[in-house]
Amino acid sequence: MTTSTAAAVSTDLSTRYLGLALPHPFMPGASPMVDDLDMVRRLEDAGAAAIVMHSLFEEQIEMEQGRTLYDIESNVNVFSEASSFFPRPAEFRLGPQTYLEQIRRIKEAVKVPVIASLNGITATGWLEYAKLIEQAGADALELNVYYVATNPDEDGAAVERRTVEIVRTVRQAIRIPIAVKLSPFFSSLSHFAARLEAAGADGLVLFNRFYQPDIDIEELEVRNELRLSDSSELLLRLRWMAILSAQRKLDLAVSGGVHTPADAVKAVMAGARSVQIVSAILKNGPQHLNALRVGLSRILEERGYESLAQMHGCMNLSRCPDPAAFERGNYMRILQGWRP
Ligand SMILES: Cc1cc2nc3c(=O)[nH]c(=O)nc-3n(C[C@H](O)[C@H](O)[C@H](O)COP(=O)(O)O)c2cc1C
Repeated sequence: MTTSTAAAVSTDLSTRYLGLALPHPFMPGASPMVDDLDMVRRLEDAGAAAIVMHSLFEEQIEMEQGRTLYDIESNVNVFSEASSFFPRPAEFRLGPQTYLEQIRRIKEAVKVPVIASLNGITATGWLEYAKLIEQAGADALELNVYYVATNPDEDGAAVERRTVEIVRTVRQAIRIPIAVKLSPFFSSLSHFAARLEAAGADGLVLFNRFYQPDIDIEELEVRNELRLSDSSELLLRLRWMAILSAQRKLDLAVSGGVHTPADAVKAVMAGARSVQIVSAILKNGPQHLNALRVGLSRILEERGYESLAQMHGCMNLSRCPDPAAFERGNYMRILQGWRP
């Protein structure tokens, strides 16, 4: 094991996330960084409070078991060519078995908690992997339910019900904590969050990033290009963090748009228990985790906070009698405030 390069800080930055006692809130979010054990060690050395693995996809598991996702759905005819949209098994960095092995390897390589990630949309057999992930030693599990609802016959309630069913199924199968990584595109996110909590979710990760394909107007092709985030993406997270942390007991993690210590302060003030970083680490290297932690500590000291706990949720909407009216008022104020 290499010597830790994480600087010591004097402020109490400790937090609890998914039942895990963490020295501070910063961790690398789900990304391929975890495929490289040397990188995982560097992340721990830079002070990562936990390691979040990238996702194992439902489609990968279904393909391994000789089925495609759409073969097992009732709308098989409509989507008969749909399986050709997915990457082939060899294109994934880790297959289902090697994913489980990688959990074991990471657990051996580092001391910090490891959060695995399953990514899918149906409450079916593939979820057996939750149990295997637990057995491989993961300390917690993220369920990523990335889905773009395009079926005109499926209403929003059906989409939500499926996710609730996934959480319920996994909750019954495993004992480790579960977080659900959500998209912001639900018509009543507060209600949905309450249902997920009731189904057994211990946390929510706000939010999935939607990588929208672009159009190449010369080649008439869809262009899939991953652009890293910037701090402007944080604002949507802050809004929902402030609303949901005032309403729910489950732990909230922010994912998306945290690049600076001030970004992290805003997320914690809005109610985040943990702060997941991907783009900023990919741009600046693992030591960015260290810089964020030192920067956060400095801001707390400068502003006279004794601990992160003292700051937690201080800007959420717990004292707001009507969050919907507050948001509508802000919206009108922003529009009226525009000056050419
Ligand atoms: C290259 C790359 C791979 C990613 N893979 C996953 C993944 O497998 N599962 C997942 O839930 N999120 C994945 N994400 C999304 C990140 O975990 C995170 O939610 C997103 O990048 C927003 O955070 P950021 O602004 O700090 O980058 C990935 C992001 C990147 C850049």
